[in-house]
Amino acid sequence: MSLQGILEQAGSLVAVGAMTVAVVALVLLVNAWRADRRKKLRRLLTVYGVYLASVALSAAVQAGMVSRALNVASDLLQALAVVALASTALFEVALPLVRIRVLDLTADLVTGAAYLVVTAAVLSGAGLDFTSVLAASTVMAAVLTISLQSTLGNLVGGLALQLEGSVRVGDWVQFEGGRVGRVASVRWRHAELETRDGDTIIVPNALLLQQSFTLLGRHPGAPVRHRQWVHFNVDFRASPREVVRVVEEAIRASPIPHMAADPPPDVVCVDLARDSWATYAVRYWLTDLMADAVADSVVRARVHAALRRARIPLARPSHTQFQYQEGEGSWAARESARQERALAALKGVDLFSSLTDTEVRDLARHLWWCPFDAGEVITRQGAVAHWLYILHSGTVEVVTEVEGAAPRVVSTIEAPGFFGEMGLLTGEPRLASVIAVIPVVCYRLDKRDFERVLTRRPEIADDLSPVLAHRRVELLAVRENLDAAARAAREHTERARILGRIREFFGLG
Ligand code: CMP
Repeated sequence: MSLQGILEQAGSLVAVGAMTVAVVALVLLVNAWRADRRKKLRRLLTVYGVYLASVALSAAVQAGMVSRALNVASDLLQALAVVALASTALFEVALPLVRIRVLDLTADLVTGAAYLVVTAAVLSGAGLDFTSVLAASTVMAAVLTISLQSTLGNLVGGLALQLEGSVRVGDWVQFEGGRVGRVASVRWRHAELETRDGDTIIVPNALLLQQSFTLLGRHPGAPVRHRQWVHFNVDFRASPREVVRVVEEAIRASPIPHMAADPPPDVVCVDLARDSWATYAVRYWLTDLMADAVADSVVRARVHAALRRARIPLARPSHTQFQYQEGEGSWAARESARQERALAALKGVDLFSSLTDTEVRDLARHLWWCPFDAGEVITRQGAVAHWLYILHSGTVEVVTEVEGAAPRVVSTIEAPGFFGEMGLLTGEPRLASVIAVIPVVCYRLDKRDFERVLTRRPEIADDLSPVLAHRRVELLAVRENLDAAARAAREHTERARILGRIREFFGLG
């Protein structure tokens, strides 16, 4: 063998050695650090193995045309092995290290292009006409295109998905049928989605593009969060406001794993139409979609404990039967208990302090129990007055509206108290709106029943007129910006005017 031949062989041995060290190092690194990507080493090892075989073969065959062809093949395989090595090092180690995510399809495309470039370079270097090879492969490509139409649809689908970036690795996807999975990879022909139960859904790329699906929890420029609803049922005798308050407090009391603190969780009443229970939902923002069941479970445990602490029973399937019988729990007994409560409410306000016990009891029979939720308008300014309201519990605000100006609060009435007397006593439309500030319980007294009391006890009108005058002047003061002196003078005249108006309205002597 000539000196040049010996040097060439030594050089190629050094190249093989250096590459072997690099391949082994890379294989060990990927195995240790990215065990889930081991299968990506297959391509590198295959190309490298074939390259080693070609080196051995060309060392064995030393003469003639065959040797020359083997040398070119070996050079080509060496170049391809270098590309495979570089692509594995770049896409499996370097980019993940700096937290850059690249889809497998992109990596394959880049690597494929590099294979083409080095093939062209090596073949031209060996004096072969690469363009004729390319022309032959174009004809092949046309033949393949016709025979592999559906496969190509998937390939193009995969490319479109990548270019648009509509679906990315790590995205959570929900299909119309309700199936949910996290995108593990977008490959040449299909996308692989991992389900929460450890299964894999394979969706051909073309199909993925044809159907509509939801990307769960993806918000541009914000971390992943998906709104989760955890439903629970509570006996409908419990006040929805109370259930919402008790459960919301418990859910917000301390952090729950995988639940965002901001926006905070809340509780809503979603249905009252069931047999015997109302349906509620805790709504919260889930930060890790893989942990939905775990977070839901903690939420349910909190709901359960909170309701038990508040002595609010969770719903049990139940059937209601009304039985009327004498004795405890009977209709009569419940009616009498209801009247006792109405009586207590009446006695709580000094409006009827001049009535005898019998008269108050008679009046209590005509009271109508009326609860209102916070924010509800109990009487509206300008409406015709039909009722007098006795405020048994809670707080209301008296609000007046003047055209062109914002509504203003004239006064706040706390239980025990009364309102709605002005319209009832004077026949004028309601002078203000009365709005519940917190949940309130009122008793309503019908205009006719009030009239009966007043006809029997005209002194109530006398007792009421100063209260009416005071309230009316307070109202006018807000509307017309009266000063203290103007208010005092107005109160004096109003008292006489109102008394006259009441007597006239009720035809009292
Ligand atoms: P009415 O006008 O029938 O309806 C609105 C009610 O608001 C009114 O009766 C009073 O009962 C009440 N109201 C009006 N002004 C005042 C006030 N200044 N203070 C307390 N209550 C008031």
